[in-house]
Amino acid sequence: MTQIISFVSGKGGVGKTTLVSNLGAALAQLGKQVLVIDGNLSGANLGIHLGLSNFYPFSLNDVLKGNVSLTHAVYRHYLGFDVIPASMVDIEVNPRRMKYVLSDVVGKKDFILIDSAAGIDNEVRAAIEASDKVIIVTNPELPAIVDALRVKALAEKHKRDVLGVVVNKVRKEKFELTDREIEEMLGLHVIGKIPHHKKVRESIAIKNPIFSYSPYSPVSAEVKKLSHLLAGEEAPRMGFWYKINRIFR
Ligand SMILES: Nc1ncnc2c1ncn2[C@@H]1O[C@H](COP(=O)(O)OP(=O)(O)O)[C@@H](O)[C@H]1O
Ligand SMILES: [Mg+2]
Repeated sequence: MTQIISFVSGKGGVGKTTLVSNLGAALAQLGKQVLVIDGNLSGANLGIHLGLSNFYPFSLNDVLKGNVSLTHAVYRHYLGFDVIPASMVDIEVNPRRMKYVLSDVVGKKDFILIDSAAGIDNEVRAAIEASDKVIIVTNPELPAIVDALRVKALAEKHKRDVLGVVVNKVRKEKFELTDREIEEMLGLHVIGKIPHHKKVRESIAIKNPIFSYSPYSPVSAEVKKLSHLLAGEEAPRMGFWYKINRIFR
């Protein structure tokens, strides 16, 4: 059965696109059939994270406008998953057809991951409506949590199953909110905790997910754990050589 999961946050810049591009790679490594979709139609950049050429002939926008079928806008990433980018120039498109156009691929994939826009407007609603499960991405600070609460309410209004919250850019600073505080405020479990790491920006600069660019980084380890959780598979214990590699990279 296909799991369609939208990644939302309320606040922008928390790390949704980074997470979706890396989870695509991690789930593909587990042998899953994965499609990642840029549902951020007004600020498309999943394609940039994944190193797609800027001149892909068709995008999600063309599909939503009814110009082409979904399969025309699917691009294969070399890490073993499919990508549907959004247009970087066209912002005149109604996102609400997303749930209908996805019916072409539902059943053919194990996972469809939708990278959502920030806020709680039309695009975010469209991403939530197109998915059956929602993951909230946030940072360990109050403004991000307050925005996360708003988008959680939106997901609940649409009766979607909110799987939990992924806390990204954790620096373990004293003033950061703890997992417990975040769980209490959001009424959700923290299902992933990803450290802030310089290599993430490096990986985006070279358009290669950190999961591939720096597989032994602590960020990749957390993405891997989350991919196992979503796949319902037990995460392997970190072996001796894995730990050694992590120390030296
Ligand atoms: N774990 C992390 N450590 C360091 N920088 C990060 C991390 N996750 C994301 N970033 C940086 O934060 C910025 C916003 O990330 P992005 O994934 O585009 O957020 P969103 O999609 O939620 O707007 C990017 O510049 C990215 O490099
Ligand atoms: Mg984004």
